[in-house]
Amino acid sequence: MTASSSGATADRPRVLVTQRIPEPALERLRAFAEVTLPPSPDRIPERAELVALLREHAYALVLLTDRVDADLLAASSGLRIVANMAVGYDNVDVAAATARGVMVTNTPGVLTETTADLAWALILAVARRIVEADRYVRAGKWTHWGPLLMLGTDVHGKTLGIVGLGRIGQAVARRAQGFGMRVLYHSRHPVPAEVEQALGARYVALADLLRESDFVSIHCPYNASTHHLIDGTALARMRPTAYLVNTARGPIVDETALVDALWTGRLAGAGLDVFEGEPAVRPGLLDLDSVVLLPHIGSASLETRARMALMAAENIVAAIEGRRPPNLVNPEVLSR
Ligand code: GLV
Repeated sequence: MTASSSGATADRPRVLVTQRIPEPALERLRAFAEVTLPPSPDRIPERAELVALLREHAYALVLLTDRVDADLLAASSGLRIVANMAVGYDNVDVAAATARGVMVTNTPGVLTETTADLAWALILAVARRIVEADRYVRAGKWTHWGPLLMLGTDVHGKTLGIVGLGRIGQAVARRAQGFGMRVLYHSRHPVPAEVEQALGARYVALADLLRESDFVSIHCPYNASTHHLIDGTALARMRPTAYLVNTARGPIVDETALVDALWTGRLAGAGLDVFEGEPAVRPGLLDLDSVVLLPHIGSASLETRARMALMAAENIVAAIEGRRPPNLVNPEVLSR
């Protein structure tokens, strides 16, 4: 619906949506505002294009691939809200946004279970060599059932180490109960005792978690304190039979050190949904059968992407109506 066909005036609020998102969210926004999509809405806008578009809009629904840094914010003086359609918001310079009076929101909760499902898909895939075995069948290499064919490792009964026991980490831990696993976790702060008890999870130092786990799954946010949290030293603590799974953010792991650990047999394998320089994949990873590589699809189910888009849209609607956006990550901006 355009402004004229809705009978609205030319001074309706203007919302920029940086790529095409599920239609119900666009419809929701169109009920309140003029909605702009870039001319090529199915790719990441170029930096110059984003600068030019943001300058024209007070409300922006952005994606984790849009780098909203201090320079971009400085060039967008009319901007009131950046609604990130992701739970992680390391792509947004929140301090710079706050300093400029720009609200920042994210989409927590709605993608928890879907992302935990994907972490588990990777755990099972690396342990049981699912992708490698699929490639083997497709290549016509399967000639007979063999007692030593494609032997992987058991998941049930093993030790799972969860780095970051927030919503997603907890959902991963809940699933581990069905596999009869021992669950260790490390977080900035231990969770309340009743949560630990319900999950059957025990808080340990990161070094102990790395030493004792058969599977290490990363679920902490990415920020300055978690940059390369899993570096060469951390990887050296892991068992040579252990697997690393990352569905959080690529730069939490030092990929160069990871490739080295995998190639030298100091780590059994890895399941990666995120990378340091997405969409680039470090070449050493591409040649390893022990690694499963996914294109950052942790929350990529039809249902969840629809919920994330609507949640981001609702944050913008709240801002348009002068209400506090429900998922504001920088509430201090309101007291400026
Ligand atoms: C996806 O990576 C998200 O942060 O929502």
